[in-house]
Amino acid sequence: MINELTTLETKFSVEELRRDFPILLRFVHGKPLVYLDNAATTQKPVEVLNAISTYYREHNANIHRGVHYLSEISTFEYEKARGKVKNFLNANEQKEIIFTRGTTEGINLIAHGYGRKFIGAGDEILISAMEHHSNIVPWQMLCEEKGAKLRVIPMNDNGELMLEEFEKLLSPKTKFVSIVYISNSLGTINPVKHIIERAHALNIPVLVDGAQTVSHRKVDMKELDCDFFVFSGHKLFGPTGIGALYGKAEFLEKMNPYQGGGDMIASVTFEKTTYNALPFRFEAGTPNISGAVGLGAAIDYVSKLDFQSIQEYEHELLEHGTQILQAIPGLRIIGTAKEKAGVLSFVMDNIHPHDIGTILDKEGIAIRTGHHCTQPVMQRFQIPATARASFSFYNTKQDLELLGQAVYKVKEIFKA
Ligand code: ALA
Repeated sequence: MINELTTLETKFSVEELRRDFPILLRFVHGKPLVYLDNAATTQKPVEVLNAISTYYREHNANIHRGVHYLSEISTFEYEKARGKVKNFLNANEQKEIIFTRGTTEGINLIAHGYGRKFIGAGDEILISAMEHHSNIVPWQMLCEEKGAKLRVIPMNDNGELMLEEFEKLLSPKTKFVSIVYISNSLGTINPVKHIIERAHALNIPVLVDGAQTVSHRKVDMKELDCDFFVFSGHKLFGPTGIGALYGKAEFLEKMNPYQGGGDMIASVTFEKTTYNALPFRFEAGTPNISGAVGLGAAIDYVSKLDFQSIQEYEHELLEHGTQILQAIPGLRIIGTAKEKAGVLSFVMDNIHPHDIGTILDKEGIAIRTGHHCTQPVMQRFQIPATARASFSFYNTKQDLELLGQAVYKVKEIFKA
């Protein structure tokens, strides 16, 4: 054990990494910030802040349009960022990477571009019981429009998908599977590779929601072999309002465009429009250029990290935090899957999660409370909401000890 810890410590120093994130030095309500809301958004390293600032200070111009110097530089930077996403995901080709506003837009793009074209009346779309609303509502809208049916893989009391039920739900009617890799409200790591293999055996395409995954573990499109993968830049230490959709070229080529407008066309007359090549066909209008540049910088930043060590360190944090919270009388952890990432959702007897969050905030501790955009998960566990602490590699065991102390304070205040 000592050796393992030593190895981990020599691979990266949390204290050093924390210095890359200026916000972690700030105080909130007079207390040093303890940031435990990483599933909502991650903090940004100096490299990302500098890349965005440099872009606006030195390169700002519109892309793919101008012949002038700045426009060429901006176009180069934007496309370079696309190349970084491609390498990060280990996709085959740069044209398989579409910039989006984030995970939500990526899923909507697929539901629209693929779903509206290839899913019809009587067909079934399979999702899971732990999806974020963004992986439920676009499919419901599609089902309503087309007369298709949404089917849901159930989960057990630990928050693990019931794979035997998944098998039963697969049928010739199943035309699409859309599945979350790591649950934002429970932390469950789903066996997506297995799900993809089983769906592919029946020629069913699979979309993986990787929003909560990319900052915690290495993802590899060639290894995973999903047909679509979506994530948000802001959950990967990059800016908000930018994300990426990976789609196998063979799928993207046959899809309908999502939005019409500038840049996505080859030619326009009043009689007929022809569309641009991939990936531009799916990027109508002036995109979030600085966001893409910032995301590229975030990818450069995480590419220097050793994901295996990060994963092991975050697992230690999870075990430490679980022990601390489990020891608190009247507290129940929601989401106890065997395969779990750094998320601790919990409820307390007779104390509303919002009250927990408000008291913790006064201690400088940032967590999220509510349904986490997963109302069906709350319904499954028959609770209105949870308090959720979610970690990143820049969190420390001390952060979790402070969380535990603050939760005891909540109990004192409520005399619970
Ligand atoms: N989906 C994000 C979360 O889990 C916003 O907090």
